[in-house]
Amino acid sequence: MASLSGKRIVLGVTGGIAAYKSAELTRLLVKAGAMVDVVLTEAGARFVGATTFQALSGRPVWTSLWDERMPNAMAHIDLTRGADLLLVVPATANFLVKLVHGMADDLLSTLCLARPRAGVDGALRDCPLFVAPAMNRQMWESPATQRNVTQLRDDGLHILGPGSGDQACGEMGDGRMLEAAEIFAALEASLCPKLLARKRVLLTAGPTFEALDPVRGLTNSSSGKMGFALARACAEAGAEVTLVAGPVTQTTPAGVTRIDVTSALQMRDAVLANLGGQNVFIAVAAVADYRPAAPADHKIKKSGQPLSIELVPNPDILAEVASRSDAPFCVGFAAESRNLAEYAEGKRKAKNLALVVGNLVQDGLGGDINAVTLFDAAGAHPLPAAEKLEVARGIVAHIASMLATR
Ligand code: C5P
Repeated sequence: MASLSGKRIVLGVTGGIAAYKSAELTRLLVKAGAMVDVVLTEAGARFVGATTFQALSGRPVWTSLWDERMPNAMAHIDLTRGADLLLVVPATANFLVKLVHGMADDLLSTLCLARPRAGVDGALRDCPLFVAPAMNRQMWESPATQRNVTQLRDDGLHILGPGSGDQACGEMGDGRMLEAAEIFAALEASLCPKLLARKRVLLTAGPTFEALDPVRGLTNSSSGKMGFALARACAEAGAEVTLVAGPVTQTTPAGVTRIDVTSALQMRDAVLANLGGQNVFIAVAAVADYRPAAPADHKIKKSGQPLSIELVPNPDILAEVASRSDAPFCVGFAAESRNLAEYAEGKRKAKNLALVVGNLVQDGLGGDINAVTLFDAAGAHPLPAAEKLEVARGIVAHIASMLATR
């Protein structure tokens, strides 16, 4: 499981307006159970003061190479000794230059240079360095910055973002620092075991919407949360992920290719068009079982009389994929209101699935917490009730162990 709980993190903050987001990142990391030592550069401290970071981290904040609080006056080495992650958030264009050239003219740049690397000077493990650039778009696009970023990637640093959008200077474009939650998610992902490395996973998620007329339709209350959490968990586990999503308001997880659809027929087309080369298909979507036989071209007017609408069955996308001779490893979901084991097992056999994730609708639909049981040929495996992302990671671990024994 990916967990930042108990991790020792050194968070460097350099001088950019995005430094305010580092305060939120500190809060998220501490909430997740990490121990965060904040190191401010002189310019960083001009944007957000040490007191803010000290209050959020509950630990002393470091700013100077000459700080005498460290017992042996070796803050530049001691702070990263035993650290699990070193972050520079935000990293200015100038700080990237320092990293490229190995400059060590203040505490943070010296820490970055002295960061433990596995096999170097007896270090047993790496303290990976994550850098979140933040700068004006012209500074970001300049050939010099682009050369520097390429060099840092070649040196094994992890570059997070930048994103695109409104900038503090009033311009629009690339160079905006990622949000704290996005950086947090990337750090969590980096700690996940790569259980699905070199695997390709296709998923469906969300409801479908079956048009009755140009403004109305049949749908359901699926939020898409579970499907999006699973897509994220697969990506964190190293898979190449394609997500076919019905109409939902979820944010696309980092690294996931998303295809938006509306109806069950569109979902089926998108799944079949992207099925080639997939190792795993996970059908999480709450696909409408029926659609109006002939949606009206124009808005249906009320007449005061009863209205009958003919419905025709939608194709079962999962059953169709699982019945192919070249079917990938197929996983289905069974949301039931009673007799979970009986219905889920029945579904697994009827649709010829390797695995069914079963849950009682009262235990998960629409909410953030889910309690599921996994049904496979070996029996039933209940997972503890947890946040949907945590449940998704448990499902991914189970899928990976089944793939390994196939
Ligand atoms: O038979 P039932 O609809 O309960 O099966 C649920 C499972 O089948 C889910 O994994 C769902 O995504 C998938 N499904 C599908 N296409 C349908 C109906 C369900 O892929 N038309």
